[in-house]
Amino acid sequence: MGLRRLQVTDFRCLPSADLSFDPRFTLISGANGSGKTSLLEAIYWLGRGRSFRTRKLSRLIRFGQQRCIVFGEVEGARGVLPLGIEATTEGVRARIGGRDAESVAELALHFPVQIIDPEVHKLIEEGPTGRRRFLDWGVFHVEPSYLANWQRYRQALAQRNAALKSRQPGSLVRIWDADLARAGATIDEARKRYVDRLRDVAEQGVKRLLGGSLEIQYRSGWAQDLTLDEALIRSIDLDTQRGATQVGPHRAELVVRTDGVLAREHVSRGQQKLLAAALLIAQLELLRAVHERPTLLLDDPAAELDANRLSRLIEEVARVSPQLIVTTLQPDFPRLGRPGIHWSLQAGACVAER
Ligand SMILES: Nc1ncnc2c1ncn2[C@@H]1O[C@H](COP(=O)(O)OP(=O)(O)O)[C@@H](O)[C@H]1O
Ligand SMILES: [Mg+2]
Repeated sequence: MGLRRLQVTDFRCLPSADLSFDPRFTLISGANGSGKTSLLEAIYWLGRGRSFRTRKLSRLIRFGQQRCIVFGEVEGARGVLPLGIEATTEGVRARIGGRDAESVAELALHFPVQIIDPEVHKLIEEGPTGRRRFLDWGVFHVEPSYLANWQRYRQALAQRNAALKSRQPGSLVRIWDADLARAGATIDEARKRYVDRLRDVAEQGVKRLLGGSLEIQYRSGWAQDLTLDEALIRSIDLDTQRGATQVGPHRAELVVRTDGVLAREHVSRGQQKLLAAALLIAQLELLRAVHERPTLLLDDPAAELDANRLSRLIEEVARVSPQLIVTTLQPDFPRLGRPGIHWSLQAGACVAER
C-alpha cells in the first residue's frame, strides 16, 4: 500500500507537477513558499477528500484558474489503483479506478493518509469536531460498514434539523428519530470498540514520547443512562428552542488527559503536539492490521520540534514503518536516514535530487 505517483495541475502555487514516491521514504525540500505544504495538501486531499488547511475548495485552485486536479496511483492489495480528485468553482468530484466515486469520502478507503504538521496540536487544543473526525477516520478503516452508517446518520440528522429549524410540529420532527437512533447507536458502539483498542496503543506511545500517562475517555453525546431513542425524546423541547438536535454522536467528545489533567487546557503547546502525534501514530499502528503500509506526511518536523523531541518523534514513527513523505527547508535532513527519492521544489517545479 502506498502512493506511487502524483500528478497535480493548478493546485495552489503548483501549475503542474509529476512526482514518483518511494515505498518507504521520500523527502521534499525547498525554500519557504516553494509549495512544500501545498504538495502534502494535494496528497492529503486525494486520500481524504478534504484539505487540512481550508474548508474552501476555491482556495485550492491556483489563482486565475478555473479548476485544479490531483491524480495519483496507489498500490493496493489488488495492484495499482488510479485515484483522482478535481475541484472547480461548481464543486468537487472524485474518481476511483476509472469510474466516478459516489462521494469523496470513498477515496479514504483506498488511500489511508495521515499528517503530522505544525498545526497538529489543534487536535488537542481545539473543540471536539477535530477529535470526532480523528475517531471516525480510524473507525472507518477498521470497520468498513461504518461509512454507510455514518452517512445514514448524517442524512437523518440533516432532515430532523431542517424540520426543527422550520418549526414543524413535534410529530414531524420525530419521524426521523428511529433512523437517527438506530444509526447513532451503531456509530456509538463502533467508536467505543475503537477507543478501547486505541487506548492501549496510545498509552504506550505517550509514555515513550512524553514520559507521562494518557487517559482517553469517549463521551457518546447523550446521557449514558438513556438509550439514544430516549435521549431524543427528552431533548425535544430544547431541540425545538435551539432549532437543532442537541444529542447524538454528532455531539460526542474524546476527552484527553495526561497525568490527570485536561490536555486541552492545562498542557503546554509543545506537549500538545507530542500528545497529538502519539494519538495519530497509534492510529496508524491500528491501521496496520488492515493496510500494510499507510502513508504518513510530516510537514517540516525539524522546524517545530527541538532536536530531542524530534528524534523521539522519529523513533515513534519508525516503529509503525509507514510510507513516509517528509518536507524540510534543509535539503540535508540526516535524522531519517537516506531518502529513497528526494525532490527539490524550485520556482514551482519539482526537480529530482540525487
Ligand atoms: N490558490 C493559490 N494559487 C496560487 N498560489 C497560492 C494559492 N494558495 C496559496 N498560494 C501560495 O503558495 C505559496 C506556497 O505555499 P506553501 O505550500 O505553504 O509553501 P511552503 O510550505 O514550501 O512554505 C505561498 O506563497 C502562497 O501564497
Ligand atoms: Mg510549509
